[in-house]
Amino acid sequence: MINSDARSFDEMNKDWVSGQQSEFVVTNKRTNLKIIPYIGCKAGFNEIFDNIIPANLPCHIYDVFGGGGAFSLYACNRFGSHRVTYNDNNPIVVNLIRHVQTFPTRLWELYNEHYIKSSTEYYYQVRNLCLENGVEGAANFLYLAKNAFSGKIRFNSTNKFNSPIRKGSTCPKVYLDSLLNLSKNIQDLTIMNEDYREFACVDNSFLYLDPPYFNNTNGHYNGVLDLGEFNQFLRAIESKNKVVLSEQNHPDLFEFPESYTVRSITLMRSLQYITQNKSQEMIAFNY
Ligand SMILES: C[S@@+](CC[C@H](N)C(=O)[O-])C[C@H]1O[C@@H](n2cnc3c(N)ncnc32)[C@H](O)[C@@H]1O
Repeated sequence: MINSDARSFDEMNKDWVSGQQSEFVVTNKRTNLKIIPYIGCKAGFNEIFDNIIPANLPCHIYDVFGGGGAFSLYACNRFGSHRVTYNDNNPIVVNLIRHVQTFPTRLWELYNEHYIKSSTEYYYQVRNLCLENGVEGAANFLYLAKNAFSGKIRFNSTNKFNSPIRKGSTCPKVYLDSLLNLSKNIQDLTIMNEDYREFACVDNSFLYLDPPYFNNTNGHYNGVLDLGEFNQFLRAIESKNKVVLSEQNHPDLFEFPESYTVRSITLMRSLQYITQNKSQEMIAFNY
């Protein structure tokens, strides 16, 4: 059980983090791997992905916990969108990615209608509208995501978006040419809205796994994963696929076989759950 072991995870992690010589450092510089701000976003990881993912990758690529889509965007840029599948179990986020792909101009027009009307009162009105269906839902969510407090998108356990508005700043502009470029890059991306366990039978493929971190109780996503089930999933896929896992916890939690290499990463400004100057995580791969 994750909760009953939480203290020992924390203690184990403290030792691990303080003993780490970071092999990769991620700064907060702008990248083109971002549609919206997203908790746990990997938009700053392109050099890490360049470093650990071989150029010769003759197989399909799955972004199983796709979230804001940074890894999918990276993989589409590098390998071509016809070779990539994005997945997330949150229908609101998936609906946005689908409409960036299929109706970027209409999405942009609807966003601009929000932009013109934007105010604190208006933000809370939009929060009560449908976010998960059609291009209107996608534009509603895009507007909320762009204006959420501290860029921190949060859903409750019934998948209701519940971030407050960012204080004291104006609604950011979305540029049509940026949206059209993003859309073009993901034209042949396969987009799915499934639980990660649906991918347990995938073989001869590359899977990038960026699940909600197991020791985190801040609850930004619509649920938490069971560690035992997740490890069973890892055992099911790792013998027949190339697997990369991003995580914050001690690697021992995942009972990796010897085939894995673990590299540590320092995030210079936390892209994760709490505002802090630095945080540590790891990336593990089995090839
Ligand atoms: C750490 S975030 C991924 C961030 C992403 N890599 C990015 O760069 O934006 C984890 C994602 O896993 C999704 N998720 C949570 N439980 C899931 C499940 N059972 N199956 C599939 N996705 C899940 C959440 O909705 C969230 O978007």
